[in-house]
Amino acid sequence: MSTTSILQASSPTPRLSGKVALVTGGASGIGESIVHLFHTHGAKICIVDVQDNLGKQVCESLDDEANEDVSRAVDFTVDRFGTLDIIVNNAGISGSPCADIRNAELSEFDKVFSINVKGVFHGMKHAARIMIPKKKGSIVSLCSVASVIGGIGPHAYTGSKYAVLGLTKNVAAELGKHGIRVNCVSPYGVATALSMAHLPEDERTEDALAGFRDFTGRVANLEGVELTTQDVANAVLFLASDDARYISGDNLMVDGGFTSANHSLKVFR
Ligand SMILES: NC(=O)c1ccc[n+]([C@@H]2O[C@H](COP(=O)([O-])OP(=O)(O)OC[C@H]3O[C@@H](n4cnc5c(N)ncnc54)[C@H](O)[C@@H]3O)[C@@H](O)[C@H]2O)c1
Repeated sequence: MSTTSILQASSPTPRLSGKVALVTGGASGIGESIVHLFHTHGAKICIVDVQDNLGKQVCESLDDEANEDVSRAVDFTVDRFGTLDIIVNNAGISGSPCADIRNAELSEFDKVFSINVKGVFHGMKHAARIMIPKKKGSIVSLCSVASVIGGIGPHAYTGSKYAVLGLTKNVAAELGKHGIRVNCVSPYGVATALSMAHLPEDERTEDALAGFRDFTGRVANLEGVELTTQDVANAVLFLASDDARYISGDNLMVDGGFTSANHSLKVFR
C-alpha cells in the first residue's frame, strides 16, 4: 500500500514580525518597494522623504506615519513604536549627467555627497544611538554597481557610492562589538525616476520606459530576467532580517553578475 502526502503551499512566514524599521526615501522607487515588502513581512515602518505628499500617500496605504529629518525621524520612530531595529538608508540622488570633468560644478558635487554620503552617515549615527544600548540592530544602505567599478554614473555619484561602501565597512567594524550588523545592497539599473534620467541620448525612444528596459537588458550580464525594485527590496529584506544574522560589512550585489563579468573581449559572446 502506498500513501501520498500533499504539501500545500502556505503564505511565507513573516520575516520581520515585531520589528520596527525606518526607511529613508521610502516614498517612491526602490524605497517604496522596500516599505511595502517590510509591511508584508510584519514590520512597523516609518518613512523619511523630501517628497512629503508622496511619503504620506505610501503611509496612508499602510496606516503608518511620515517624517522628514533623519535624527528627528529616529526619535519619532522610537516615540511611536518604542524602539528601532532596522534602518534602511535608501534616499539618494544621481546628480546631473556631466560627460566632461572640466564642466563639473562643485555645488553639484556637494549636493550629491550631502544626500548620498552625509545622509547615510547621519542615518547610521542616529540609528546607532538607539541600537547600541539594545545590543542589536541592522543597518542597510543602498549602494550601487557604481560602488565597485567606474564608468557607471557621474563622478560625484560614483564617488558617493564608493563612500557608502567605505562607511558600511567602517561602521560594521565599530558596531560589531554591540551586536549590530551593517551592510549595503548594490543594484544594477532598475527603472526609477533616478535612473531613467541617465539613459544615454542615443538610446532614448518615444517610450522612455521601454527604451530604458531595452538598453539595460542589452548590456546586462544575466539574460531572460529583468531587474525590478522588488528584487532589490528582497535583498534588503534578507539583510535586514535574522536570516542574515551573521552577515555584516557586506556589499550584496544585485546585478546578475554585471560587475563580475567583462564581456569586452567577447570570450563568451
Ligand atoms: N534605480 C537604480 O537603477 C539604482 C541603481 C543602483 C542604486 N540605486 C540607489 O537606490 C536608492 C534609491 O534610488 P531610486 O532609484 O529608488 O530613486 P528614486 O529617485 O526613485 O527614489 C529616491 C527617493 O529618495 C527621496 N529623497 C531624495 N533625497 C532625499 C533626502 N535628502 N531626504 C529624504 N528623501 C530623499 C526621493 O524623494 C525619492 O522618493 C538610491 O540610493 C540610489 O542611488 C538605484
